[in-house]
Amino acid sequence: MDNDSIKGAYKRYAPVYDWVFGLVFRNGRHVAMDSLQFESGDHVLELGVGTGLSLPEYPDDVDIHVTGVDISQDMLDKAEKRIQKHGLTNCELYNMDAEALDFPDNSFDKIMVLYVLSVVPDPYKVMSEVRRVAKPGADVIFVNHFAKENPLVRRFESALSRWAAPLGFDPDFPMEPVLENVGLNVERIESVNLFGYWTMLHGRCPEE
Ligand SMILES: C[S@@+](CC[C@H](N)C(=O)[O-])C[C@H]1O[C@@H](n2cnc3c(N)ncnc32)[C@H](O)[C@@H]1O
Repeated sequence: MDNDSIKGAYKRYAPVYDWVFGLVFRNGRHVAMDSLQFESGDHVLELGVGTGLSLPEYPDDVDIHVTGVDISQDMLDKAEKRIQKHGLTNCELYNMDAEALDFPDNSFDKIMVLYVLSVVPDPYKVMSEVRRVAKPGADVIFVNHFAKENPLVRRFESALSRWAAPLGFDPDFPMEPVLENVGLNVERIESVNLFGYWTMLHGRCPEE
């Protein structure tokens, strides 16, 4: 997968994304939100914000600021319309590559990465950027499909992996290297969505 094929895939998905994935991914979004305790003044970063389905779900009774970034302008245009529709005054959007973020170190208190890790060309670059821009002690949430241990399912996912570019995601993406590389203290891991096929991983950056 490369950024051009990803942009192409999400140009095709953008008009139908909410219909196809809105409900399917909703439980994971809710579990992710419920796992966090937002505090007034929090700076929240959402990587791969897509059409902004999660934006109206952030609490409106605490004074937080949400920054959403995505590499697909077609998805961001939908997110911008959602911001207008819901009158969300605390959200801003940027067209930016999650593998090379244009934010200073130690900028964010909470970082959400929902259904993105297996979509980007190099998930380890994203994780490294997450660690860089997260403040010490920041909460980080990944919701993703991770490759299953069941050998039959695993073989199917491996075979499907060769179609990652047109699909727009890589189904053969195991969780263990994420846990080894991301350097977070794991707070919670929970199966989410249909048949628990996806996983919510809540980690916390070490306090320095
Ligand atoms: C499966 S969608 C998830 C959208 C949203 N997070 C949600 O929960 O519905 C993946 C999103 O990641 C975005 N994306 C892919 N590669 C990216 C990158 N390198 N930087 C930023 N966003 C990226 C895609 O454009 C797409 O909007």
